[in-house]
Order: sequence, then structure tokens, then C-alpha cells
Amino acid sequence: MPFYDNQVNVMFDEAKLQARLKELGAEITRDYKGQNLIVVGVLKGSVLFFADLVRQIDLPLSIDFLGLSSYGSGTESSGVVRITNDLAKPIEGAHVLVVEDIVDTGLTMQFLLENLKTRKPASVKICTLLEKPSRAKAKIPLHYTGFVIPDEFVVGYGLDFDEKFRNLPFIGVMRR
Ligand code: IMP
Ligand code: MG
Repeated sequence: MPFYDNQVNVMFDEAKLQARLKELGAEITRDYKGQNLIVVGVLKGSVLFFADLVRQIDLPLSIDFLGLSSYGSGTESSGVVRITNDLAKPIEGAHVLVVEDIVDTGLTMQFLLENLKTRKPASVKICTLLEKPSRAKAKIPLHYTGFVIPDEFVVGYGLDFDEKFRNLPFIGVMRR
């Protein structure tokens, strides 16, 4: 029995996730054809999503990563965002697609969008796997969204609770 069996209920299994990623990848492929695309993964939560998504994008893109930290060890946003690891290269003139695990209050993405815009990219768009609209505190344009979910704390497929459960191959809900 897997270690998480008594702690997590499945919300989106692997098949469901991969099917949606295929659709997102096709959409992104269409939208960025002929453009200089940099796909930026937000560490650490987006890594599994990121790795699967870029394999569904049929374009000569480049990749980079950004480390952001918005949470302490609990499940509530602190509202304070820090860049813990910056991009390796400038993005001036490039089309940037930010890949995020989940947009909850939106405060993290609001901060990141403002920061990236000062670097003069040709465009910045966001692709998030999950969105919790009921908790939104900032109005952020989400160009690509995998799934809209209710106000539940989810883990797995990159998302953590206190740094654990990131390695689950599915999205699940913590049992209370
Ligand atoms: P926001 O600034 O409130 O939008 O928070 C965004 C970040 O909070 C995400 O990138 C996640 O790292 C984390 N987060 C928000 N909701 C959840 C959740 O349900 N499970 C795990 N992490 C979450
Ligand atoms: Mg995150």
C-alpha cells in the first residue's frame, strides 16, 4: 500500500491530468507558432506539471526556472512573496509563458507578473494547472488553466503540504 493511502483522496488521476495537458499543449503550440517562446517554471510546485507540459508543446522553445516562496509551512498564504532563485537569462523581447501549479489568492502571480514586466519581455502569459477562484484576492489574467477547483487544500503532482506529497503522480485532497 502506498504511504499516502490513508491521508489523501484522489481528485484528478494520472489519466485525467495527462489528457488535459495534451489539450493545453496543443493550444499553446497553436498560439506561439513562429515566436521566440521561453517557458518559465515556478519552483518547486510546478516541476512535475512543467516537465509533462513541455513535452506536449511542439515548438522549439527554451526553458528557465524561477523560485518563489509565498507560504510558510502551513496552508494559508502569508501574502509575502520572495524570489528565492532568479531566471538564468534575460527575457527582453521574448514571449514568456509562466507555468504555475495553482493560483489561489493570486498574490504570488500578481507579484511575479509585475516583476517580469520590468524586464521588457514581448509578452507574459500564465499557464496554471489549477485555479481556486473562490479565494482570489488579486485579479490576474489566466490564459491557460488546467482545472478550476473548489476551496480545498490539494497535494500531489508537485503540490505540497509542509514540503511533503509533491511526488504523488495525481492531484489529491488531504483527508481531514
Ligand atoms: P497564492 O499567492 O495564494 O495564489 O498562492 C499560490 C501558491 O500557494 C501556489 O503556488 C502554491 O505553492 C501554494 N498553494 C495554494 N493553494 C495550495 C493548495 O491547495 N495546495 C498546495 N499548495 C497551495
Ligand atoms: Mg507555487
